[in-house]
Amino acid sequence: LRHLLTMEGLPRDLILRLLDRAEGLAQATSGAEKKVALLNGRTVVNLFFEASTRTRTTFELAAKRLSADVINLQIAASSTSKGETLLDTLKTMEAMQADMFVVRHEASGAAHFFAEHAAPGVAILNAGDGRHAHPTQGLLDLYTIRAHAPKARSAGFGALSVAIVGDVLHSRVARSDIHGLRTLGCVDIRVVAPPPLIPAGIESMGVRVFHDLERGLDGVDVVILLRLQKERMLGAFLPSLAEFHADFGLTRERFRQLKPDAIVMHPGPINRGVEIEGELAYGERSLILQQVTHGIAVRMAVMAEILGSPAAEVLS
Ligand code: CP
Repeated sequence: LRHLLTMEGLPRDLILRLLDRAEGLAQATSGAEKKVALLNGRTVVNLFFEASTRTRTTFELAAKRLSADVINLQIAASSTSKGETLLDTLKTMEAMQADMFVVRHEASGAAHFFAEHAAPGVAILNAGDGRHAHPTQGLLDLYTIRAHAPKARSAGFGALSVAIVGDVLHSRVARSDIHGLRTLGCVDIRVVAPPPLIPAGIESMGVRVFHDLERGLDGVDVVILLRLQKERMLGAFLPSLAEFHADFGLTRERFRQLKPDAIVMHPGPINRGVEIEGELAYGERSLILQQVTHGIAVRMAVMAEILGSPAAEVLS
C-alpha cells in the first residue's frame, strides 16, 4: 500500500490485515505506556482544509502513539490564505522532508490530486474528500462492527444485515462503508432515506433502497446513522429537521423495535434530535464513542502499514 485514497478496490486480505493489525496495536498501547516506536523519525503532516474533530485528532494521536513527529498545518493561518495553491503547499511541506500527508478537503478528488503529485516515497492518506471517500472511517466502521456485532464474530460479515440511514446523497462515509462491507462479503446492505437523499444509481453498488424506515430497519444487525450535511445542501433539498426526525430519526420507539443485539453507529458529528434522539446517542448499544476510540488504532494500523515495519516486529 503506497497511499490510502478510497475503500473501493481495496483487497479483502489487506482490509483484514489492517483490522487485525489495529487490534494488535490497540492491545499494545492500552497500558500506561501508550506509545510504540514504529515510526520513530518519521514526519506526518495533517492538512485539513475542511473542519474536523474526530479524524484530525485521532490521526494526530495515532501518529504520536507510533512515535512519529506530527505537524498540524493551520490552514486558515497558512499561506493558502494568500493564494498559495494546493500543489505548492504540498511541495513546500515535502521540502521539509515530510513522509506522509493526511488530507481532508471539500473537493472530491483532492486526495488523488495530492497522490498524483507527491514525491516518490511520500504517502497520502485521504481523510475525507467531498462526497467521495473517507476510507479510514470505512475501516474503523468495519473494525467496530467486527468487534461488537455478535453475528459478525460468530458467522462473519456474510451473515449481517446492515442499514445505512440518512443523508446518503452527500455521504463519503456511506460510500466507503458500502465498499468495505461488500468486500468482506456482506450481501444485505440497505440504504434508507427520502428519495432526494439517495444518489441516482446507488443500487449498482449492491445495496437495496428503502424510503420507509420501519421496513428498512426490520431485522437488521447494524444501524449506521448519517448526519444531515446541511453545509452541502446549499440551494438544494433541505428537509425540515423536525420532519426528517419524525420520518427517519432513530427514536426510542424505533430503537425498541430493533433486534435485541442490534448495534447503533454514527460517524459523527451528530445532529442531536435529528438523526437520533438525544438520550440514545450514548446509550445502550450505541457505539458512537467506541467508533472514535477505534479510529486511533485503525489509523495507527494504516500508517504503520505504509510507513512502518511489520507488526510482528513491534508486537513480539
Ligand atoms: N467522522 C468524522 O469524519 O468526523 P470529523 O468530521 O469530526 O472528523
